[in-house]
Amino acid sequence: MRLSRRILVSGGAGFIGSHLCDRLLAEGHEVLCVDNYFTGWRRNIEHLVGTPRFEVMRHDVTFPLYVEVDDIYNLACPASPVHYQHDPVQTLKTSVHGAINMLGLAKRTRAKIFQASTSEVYGDPTVHPQPESYWGHVNPLGIRACYDEGKRAAETLFFDYHRQHKVKIKVARIFNTYGPRMHPRDGRVVSNFIVQALSGDDITIYGDGSQTRSFCYVTDLLDGFARLMATGDGFIGPVNLGNPVEFSMRELAEMVIAMTDSKSKLVYLPLPSDDPKQRQPDITLARRELGWEPKVALADGLKETIGYFRKLLAS
Ligand SMILES: NC(=O)c1ccc[n+]([C@@H]2O[C@H](COP(=O)([O-])OP(=O)(O)OC[C@H]3O[C@@H](n4cnc5c(N)ncnc54)[C@H](O)[C@@H]3O)[C@@H](O)[C@H]2O)c1
Repeated sequence: MRLSRRILVSGGAGFIGSHLCDRLLAEGHEVLCVDNYFTGWRRNIEHLVGTPRFEVMRHDVTFPLYVEVDDIYNLACPASPVHYQHDPVQTLKTSVHGAINMLGLAKRTRAKIFQASTSEVYGDPTVHPQPESYWGHVNPLGIRACYDEGKRAAETLFFDYHRQHKVKIKVARIFNTYGPRMHPRDGRVVSNFIVQALSGDDITIYGDGSQTRSFCYVTDLLDGFARLMATGDGFIGPVNLGNPVEFSMRELAEMVIAMTDSKSKLVYLPLPSDDPKQRQPDITLARRELGWEPKVALADGLKETIGYFRKLLAS
């Protein structure tokens, strides 16, 4: 096996994808970043342009792609509700046609392929915390369905390509992840609170703020990706990757206000439709199969993320 691998990262100009490109290049691999810039930014990868082992291609994964690669990370998909609900048909196409095109490429090149699935496949869960064996509680007609059902169909495609065509797959179900390079206007809670606090605006909490979420720092997540890709053919997932430590929205808002020395006030708005009340990963499988668990404390990760947004807003 080649030590330096030719690796395609779809969605490589996005938040997680750009950190993945950094990491793979630092490990000595050749990286082909494929993105249509729907939610990704050139500024996320501009520091890599000029690196000889790095190449960027503007391409929409809903169309076939013919390149030669050893590994594929399929991350292309808008990930935040404001973005994926903006054009729900395109979101479904990206998940489903994107998976078919990337799996077709993996089949032809015999590449190993990683799927960035999501905790959203569990919907508004009736089981808590969620193990991988839980089939989920998704409203197939709701406004989140374009994302949830798209990702569920993508998982089905991954497992069928594996069973039918022997494609080497690895499927991770990612829970809320945060860090530098999140989109400032993606409506996700960590970026929202930080941008509002740094701008001195009211911090908007949906519902009464008691609903909880768990937050995984991006470097922890990438460590999980690397461990999953390094497992043998016997383990393909799906495996939950996320931080099981829960915080309420009110706790998170108060932490952000304290860490930014902000004068922002908390304001409460009605919960959006289909918003899950609670979600927490059961990471027993990741601990056992990957020897993985998150290491970065929320306060440390927030410090880095606040530093990033401070610079971004100043520029
Ligand atoms: N961030 C999280 O908390 C989280 C949680 C669960 C799953 N995920 C998954 O991880 C992946 C990356 O998420 P992210 O947070 O970095 O989101 P992001 O929006 O920052 O990145 C997604 C990238 O995909 C690109 N893209 C979208 N549609 C495309 C298309 N049709 N063709 C080519 N490129 C396309 C976007 O331009 C963007 O660069 C997504 O698949 C997402 O569903 C993320």
